Amino acid sequence: MSDTASEPRRILLIVSGGIAAYKVLETIRHLRRRGVAVRCVLTAGGAQFVTPLSLHALSEDKVYQDLFSLTDESEMGHIELSRQADLVVVAPASADILAKMTAGLCDDLATTLLLATDKPVLVAPAMNVRMWEHAATQENLATLIRRGISVIGPEEGPMACGEYGYGRLVEPDRLAAAILRRLGHDTDGTDTKQSVLAGRSALVTSGPTHEPIDPVRYIANRSSGRQGHAIAEALAALGARVTLVSGPTRLPDPAGVTTVHIESAEEMLSACRSALPVDVAVCAAAVADWKVAARTGEKIKKEEGAAPPTLALAENPDILKTLGQPGPGRPQLVVGFAAETGDVVARGTAKRARKGCDWILGNDVSEGTGTFGGAENSVHFITEAGAEAWPTGSKRAVADELARRIAAHLGAAGERGAAE
Ligand code: CTP
Repeated sequence: MSDTASEPRRILLIVSGGIAAYKVLETIRHLRRRGVAVRCVLTAGGAQFVTPLSLHALSEDKVYQDLFSLTDESEMGHIELSRQADLVVVAPASADILAKMTAGLCDDLATTLLLATDKPVLVAPAMNVRMWEHAATQENLATLIRRGISVIGPEEGPMACGEYGYGRLVEPDRLAAAILRRLGHDTDGTDTKQSVLAGRSALVTSGPTHEPIDPVRYIANRSSGRQGHAIAEALAALGARVTLVSGPTRLPDPAGVTTVHIESAEEMLSACRSALPVDVAVCAAAVADWKVAARTGEKIKKEEGAAPPTLALAENPDILKTLGQPGPGRPQLVVGFAAETGDVVARGTAKRARKGCDWILGNDVSEGTGTFGGAENSVHFITEAGAEAWPTGSKRAVADELARRIAAHLGAAGERGAAE
C-alpha cells in the first residue's frame, strides 16, 4: 500500500455475476472522486449485467475480461495485474466466485488473479437469501475469513428475485467507504494513520445467548446483534483493534474485526476474559439472565401421560458487571445498554450504578417500538453527568455516535491503556 494519503491509491475491482453489479458503477464514481484509480476485471457472469463500456467510461481505464488475451498478456501479464493494486475488491461477489476462491480454482481471469495476488482482498457478497444462508456458502465464507479475506455485507432487504432477507449488495456509498478505509483513507478524506482510536483496543459483546436445556433445545431471545455488530464496525473504522464476542446471529462477521462466536453466557464471559486487557468494553449483547440449572446430556423425552417437565433456572454470570468491577484489569471505559420497557432514564441510571459501568445507553424495547431485533434505535446516553436523549436513528448511526464519544473520551484521558 502507498505510504501517504496524498499518493493515488489503486484498486483492482472484480465484477462478478449478479443483478447488483449495476451498483458498482456508482461505487466507481465515489472512488474516482476521491482520486482512487480503479482497474476493472469483468467476469463472463458480470458481463451479463454491466457492459465493459460502462466500466471503462467510469473507471477511465482498460477493462480486462480474458485470461488468454494475447494483447493483454503482452501489455501486462495477469500476475502483474493481480499485484499492481493496493487492494483487490470483488463486488458483487457471487456464491460461485466465493466457492471458487475457497477451492483455489482458477478457470478464468478473475479467479486466476485472486489466486495469484499478494494483496489484501475485500469481498462484497450479493446473492439470493437461500444461496447466502446455504451451509456451503457460509462454510466457504468462514474459510475465506480465516485466510484473512475481509467481507462487507450483504445487507438485509427485499431482493430482485422477490424474496426478502440477507443477500443484497451493500449500498455504493458504504462499499466505497469500506474500500477507502482499507486503502488508508478515512471517509472524510483524512488518513487513518491519524485515526482517533489507532493503538486502542476494544471488546464488544453482541447478539443473544443460547442457554442449552438438553442437546437439542435451548432458551433464547429476539436480539438480532445488529447494534453490537455496528458498534464493533464503527470502532474498527476509527482505527481500534476490536474483538467482537457474538452469540448466534444471522449477521456476517464485520470486516476488520476479530469475531469470536459463542453460544451461552458462560462461554461469552470466558471469551471476554480472554480478550482482556482492552481500553474499552461495550456490552451490547442480550445475555440470558438465567440458564437451565441442570442441563441434561440426553434429550428430554415426552413420556405418554406424564406431566411436562419443569425447568429449574439458575442465574447466569453478569458480564457487564464483571468487566466493570474495579481492579487493575478493568478497561478504562466500560459501556452497557439498558433494555427497558418504560421509565428508561430512571431505570437506566439505576442500572448504571448497579452494574458499575461508566456509561449506559438506555433504550425502550417495549412492544411496538421495533427496537429489539429491528434496524432503528432510540437511546438515552446516561453518564455520571446525567442523561442525554439522542435522536432516533439507525443502529449504525447510534454506533457511529458512540464510537465518536468513546474516541473523544479516550483521547481526553490521554494515556494509552494496558492494551497496547
Ligand atoms: N448484561 C451482561 N450479562 C448479563 C446480563 C446483562 O453483560 N448476564 C449486560 C447487557 O449486555 C447490557 C446490560 O448488562 O449491557 C443490561 O442488560 P439488561 O438486559 O438491560 O439488564 P439486566 O441486567 O438483564 O437486568 P433486567 O433484565 O432486570 O433489566
